[in-house]
Amino acid sequence: LKFIDRLVIVACGTSYYAGLVGEYLIEELAGIPVEVQFASEFKYRKEPFSRSTALLAISQSGETADTIAALKKVEDYGVLRLGVVNAVGSTIARLTDAGVYCHAGPEKAVASTKAFIAQVSVLAQIALSLSSPSNKLFKPLLQELNDLPAKAQQILDQSGTIQQVALKYKDYRDFLFIGRGYSFPTALEGALKLKEVSYIHAEGYAAGEMKHGPLAMIDENFPTFAIATGEPLFEKTVSNIQEIRARKGPVVALATEGKTSIEEFCDDIIYVPGVIEELQPILHGIVTQLFAYYIAVARGFDVDRPRNLA
Ligand code: F6R
Repeated sequence: LKFIDRLVIVACGTSYYAGLVGEYLIEELAGIPVEVQFASEFKYRKEPFSRSTALLAISQSGETADTIAALKKVEDYGVLRLGVVNAVGSTIARLTDAGVYCHAGPEKAVASTKAFIAQVSVLAQIALSLSSPSNKLFKPLLQELNDLPAKAQQILDQSGTIQQVALKYKDYRDFLFIGRGYSFPTALEGALKLKEVSYIHAEGYAAGEMKHGPLAMIDENFPTFAIATGEPLFEKTVSNIQEIRARKGPVVALATEGKTSIEEFCDDIIYVPGVIEELQPILHGIVTQLFAYYIAVARGFDVDRPRNLA
């Protein structure tokens, strides 16, 4: 990997969103340019692909047809094929030259939950391995990875609060999820989770893109789930929230404990323990999963077997 000058990540669905977090992490920590592509698009693209590029497939099941096809497409290119896979011994695990198993255990439900958390954790560790111990993020990130289980437990301990908020929003038809930086992929993932288990139309957007179209949809019937944690982009997300409120859009915010200044701008707030920006998707992913879960259960759906999905 020391000799590659570009990494292309291919994946589908939730694994693709984990890949987006991986892109930010690897670029920031290791300085290697990364590009994330939907496997279903990658397999048909006619892009230049040099031998100094490596392909990294991310997959929970290791059996997703498009991701397998993406790996097969580069079979004769002489490039390094890597995998971040959960299912041990799966097709993708066998097709790749090297890789890391997530070891999240079997995902028994259709919707990917713990696999997403594990994928992002593994990608953070890959980024650390590719960086140098002299990198200023190296030690804090290792420390925060160690602290994550306790913080995840803190979130699980307040699932009652998340449930109460979720119940208030269970009857809306639409939802917007917004976030910036590392929270942008989390917003995309939050929207996917909500739509696949509750059948509420949900869209994930980079908060800064609000004014370029989605703001037109906002009214009192179109709530927003805003991931508004941490510096340096907190103030900017708050200003997006204000724009939504000015159009009467209800706002649920995910905010860092102690950041009570956000209360005047939001209808509901879910507080989470503070964590380094780079690892926020892991903790925030748990919140958006629980939010989708409680809405789906309240609407009477089987969260383990969403309709139309295998
Ligand atoms: C979402 C979900 C899907 C999968 C996607 C890729 O909750 O489960 O979007 O993430 O089908 O599957 P894997 O990771 O098995 O390749």
